Amino acid sequence: MAGAIAYISRDTDGVHWKKVLEAGLGPVDFRTLDNLGDKERIEVVLAWKPPAGLIASFPNVKLIVSLGMGVDHLLADDRLPTGVPIVRIMDDGLVGQMSEYAIYWALRHHREIDKYAASQRARQWKPEDFVDTIHRRIGVMGLGSIGQDTAGKFAALGFPTAGWSRTAKSLPGIETFHGTDGLARFLARTDILIDVLPLTRDTRGLLDAKAFAALPKGAYFINMARGGHVVDEALLAALDSGQISGAALDVFNVEPLPQDHPYWTHPKVQVTPHIAGATNPRTASPGVIENIKRMRAGQPLLHTVDPKTGY
Ligand code: GLV
Repeated sequence: MAGAIAYISRDTDGVHWKKVLEAGLGPVDFRTLDNLGDKERIEVVLAWKPPAGLIASFPNVKLIVSLGMGVDHLLADDRLPTGVPIVRIMDDGLVGQMSEYAIYWALRHHREIDKYAASQRARQWKPEDFVDTIHRRIGVMGLGSIGQDTAGKFAALGFPTAGWSRTAKSLPGIETFHGTDGLARFLARTDILIDVLPLTRDTRGLLDAKAFAALPKGAYFINMARGGHVVDEALLAALDSGQISGAALDVFNVEPLPQDHPYWTHPKVQVTPHIAGATNPRTASPGVIENIKRMRAGQPLLHTVDPKTGY
């Protein structure tokens, strides 16, 4: 039998992954965190937030697969073996879920649904002021596969949509900005800010007091990327001053969000438990199986990650 595949995650027990991998590869020597067996035989690692140093203890690992589209959870391990290729899952199902998450919160804000819910509780028939779709400017930070899908769907709904990325990109129907120079201009034209950036050295803490101040007053913020982009004190201050009118947060600096964190009870914050896009073995496995086959055949891999850029 080919080398073993280790499923390293505390989120689920991996049985679904075992099933889909066996459907594509035949019988698999499948290991889990609680049952790693002889580490010499581990050839492929499927990982989500692996314990630091664990992957380095597999002497013959040839492929590391990130179970998330983001790979910061892997690169945080300073003993991650260098020279072992890292690939990430690429899952249209997950991409679609992420866009849905952003569209849901953006429309709820755009159409003042929270105000109507409050009016309903008070038995009040009270139409609110309305902002035309063509005047509600959407800004998507991060223009990888998720950002492009999200931005394209907002543009299709008729919202003026812009995107910001580290390097210049050009996308049909989307106004694009890039780099440090483009950031302030991008933020200044953004009424609903949607974060889908990867977490890297350059993006950690990017959304600070200065960034929130650069948005138009009353902007709305949706974070479905990583909590590490946000300086929480700055966001809380911007919410309290009204600079930011509300936020939908799926990701946090510390997860699970600590019990005493002010976000839990903040009247302008909606908290969800990192569910904007869930990795589904059924939709994510074809790409993983393809990469395992390619690795075994010595062929070029798909969706490789450059540890230097962090995505
Ligand atoms: C989830 O956060 C992912 O990186 O896919």
